[in-house]
Amino acid sequence: MTHPAIQVPALIAHRGYSAAAPENTLAAVRAAHQAGATWVELDVQLLADGTPVIWHDADVARCSNGRGALASISWAKAQTLDVGSWFGDRFAGEKMPSLEAMLALLNELEMGVNMEIKVNKGRDPIALVDRALPEMLDSLPPERLIISSFNASALTHCRQFASKERLALGVLFGSVPKTWRAQCEAIDAYSVHPDWPRLKRAQAAAMQQDGYQILCYTANDPSAFHSRWAWGIAGVITDEPAAFKRFLASH
Ligand code: G3P
Ligand code: MG
Repeated sequence: MTHPAIQVPALIAHRGYSAAAPENTLAAVRAAHQAGATWVELDVQLLADGTPVIWHDADVARCSNGRGALASISWAKAQTLDVGSWFGDRFAGEKMPSLEAMLALLNELEMGVNMEIKVNKGRDPIALVDRALPEMLDSLPPERLIISSFNASALTHCRQFASKERLALGVLFGSVPKTWRAQCEAIDAYSVHPDWPRLKRAQAAAMQQDGYQILCYTANDPSAFHSRWAWGIAGVITDEPAAFKRFLASH
């Protein structure tokens, strides 16, 4: 055995079903499940008191009724925020999810997760991995977990917790650098996660040749993405899982 026996999903709902519900919330994951997605992509970070939470930005202004850096907010304070109303009235009162609560929901729904270790500017990748990764390894079977990051230190540290048989790691790229292969080999990567419009066909061919699963982000228009499937793409990370599902069913 090499990597975990993951059934690579063609569709991964980005931050949950983020076109239909406030991103990175329990509601967004439930919406993804209802839309037929079996996997979600989520972002994990630490609050000021070290609590791992599901959150994308460095601060809370865009996706809550509060203000301030995530790194300065305690769990008690975070739970006073409304993280749903900004998206729509029917999500009023939605709370910022702890990693613990999110893992419980993912297990209840038997969903897989591509958890992005989100290292925003000035944050410590090691502390984040130390707090969040053991919780994920304890809660989820290897077949339902892919950890990804843009941050090489975070990925290297993740690998020290678990071998490639136990933990699938993915490398996130904007433009794919010349060093992509060395970066993947250094951590025994399972997958590569390129920004789809910047991925070149020859790069995709080389990645596939080397045995990496290619999971492209963030593709939201199924017809614009359509020609890329022939490049050997394993899956898309999308805000629009229902639209992709419908399109794929009819093509
Ligand atoms: O994991 C794919 C994608 O989520 C990476 O970018 O900024 O949406 O977290 P971002
Ligand atoms: Mg992300």
